[in-house]
Amino acid sequence: MTIRQKMLDELKNRRDGFTLARPFYTDPDYFRVDMENFYYRDWLFVAHDCELPRPGNYLTIQIGDYSVILTRGRDKVIRALHNSCRHRGSRVCANEKGTTAKLVCPYHQWTYDLDGSLQYVRHMGEDFDKAQYGLKPVHCESIEGYIFICLAEHAPDIAPLRDRIAPYIAPHNIRETKVAFKSSIVEKGNWKLVWENNRECYHCAANHPELCRTYPEAASVTGVQGMADDPEIQAHWAHCEAGGLEAKFFINPDGQFRITRMPLIPGAESYTMSGQRAVKKPMGPKTNVAGIGALLLFHYPTTWNHFLGDHAISFRVLPLGPEETEVTTTWMVPKDAVEGIDYDLEELTHVWTFTNDQDRQIVEENARGIRSPAYEPGPYCEEDEGGVMQFVEWYANTSISRLSDTAAPLSIVA
Ligand code: FES
Repeated sequence: MTIRQKMLDELKNRRDGFTLARPFYTDPDYFRVDMENFYYRDWLFVAHDCELPRPGNYLTIQIGDYSVILTRGRDKVIRALHNSCRHRGSRVCANEKGTTAKLVCPYHQWTYDLDGSLQYVRHMGEDFDKAQYGLKPVHCESIEGYIFICLAEHAPDIAPLRDRIAPYIAPHNIRETKVAFKSSIVEKGNWKLVWENNRECYHCAANHPELCRTYPEAASVTGVQGMADDPEIQAHWAHCEAGGLEAKFFINPDGQFRITRMPLIPGAESYTMSGQRAVKKPMGPKTNVAGIGALLLFHYPTTWNHFLGDHAISFRVLPLGPEETEVTTTWMVPKDAVEGIDYDLEELTHVWTFTNDQDRQIVEENARGIRSPAYEPGPYCEEDEGGVMQFVEWYANTSISRLSDTAAPLSIVA
C-alpha cells in the first residue's frame, strides 16, 4: 500500500472531533505528501510588497525543496522565479535579500534579467537560443501588499480570495507601509500543530499574560462560529461599517480562509502592554478611528494576520521538516513613521515577541507528548476549540479530495 493510500484510509476513518493520528504529526513520508498536497499546490503568502520597495530589490524563500526568488523589475512589477539556473541547476541567488541590476549565477555567470529572461552566456555557440533558457516563472500575485505565490504548474483561481479580502485590507494601506521589525523563529513541531495552537484561545489565559491584556479570550473571536450571534460583535461591526470599514465575518465555503473584524478588550486600541496605540501615525484615514479593534485574516496553509489602526502584523508558516516549522512575524507601520519619534520598537513588538515564544514552547511540548507511543487522538473541546476543529476538518477534507484525485501527480514517496 502506498503512503497516499494509507493516509487516505486513515483520514476517511478518522474520528470526527478528535486530534489526528500520530504519523500525521511526526512521519517524514506523511510530511512529504502534505508538502505535495498543500505547499506545492496552493497559493502561499510569502512576503509583502513593501519588502521590495525599489526596482532591483530581491528576496529568496525556501519552501520545502523549492527555492524561489522574488524580484521587483525596472517596470516595478514583482515577479517570482525558480532559483535554479537553467545551465546546470545551481542556485542563482544564495542571499536572503539584496539589490541587484541582474541575476548572475555564481557558477558560470549565466546572467538573467530581473524578469528571469536569460541575457548573457559565454561560449555556448552561435546557435544557442537564450530565449529557451530563462529562469522558470512561479505564479505570483500581490493582493493589497500581500505577495502570494503558487508553485503548481496550474495555479488555482486566486480571484475568490482576492475579491473577498481586498476590500477589508485596502484601508490599512499595506503597500504604503515599511517593515518596522521581522522575526523568524523555529518551532520544533509539525506545521499542523502550529496551526492548531493558533486556531484557539483555550490556552491563552494560562499562557499569554501580555496578549490577554488586549485580546479577548472569547471563542467566538478566535474560532469560526458564534460571531454573528454575539451582540457585542454585531455592535462592533456596525461601528466599523459606519466608518467605511468592511467588517462582517466571512469564511470561504471550502474553509481555507476567513476574514472578520473583532473588538479588542474595552478601551484597548492596539497590542501593547498599555493597550494604547504603539504608532502615532495612522495607517489610513479610515483606520484613524477609535475602537476599530483588529481585522483578522487567516489563509491556510501559510498565514494569519492582525490589522490594527496603527500597525499590522503578518505571520507566515513554512514547514522545515516533519517536526520543524518556521514562523515569521512581520510588523508593518506607515512608511513615513520614524522609529524613536512616532513609535518605540520595543513597545510595538513586545506583546507578540513574548506571545510567539510562549506559543513555541506550547507547540514543542505538544509535539513531545505526541511523539510518545502512548499518545492516541484526543477529543477537542467543542465550546472553545471550534477553530481547531475547523482547521483539522479543512486539512482532512482537502487531503481526502486530493489523495483521491487520480489525476494528481504520483507521490514521490509512493
Ligand atoms: Fe549557473 Fe552554470 S550552473 S551558470
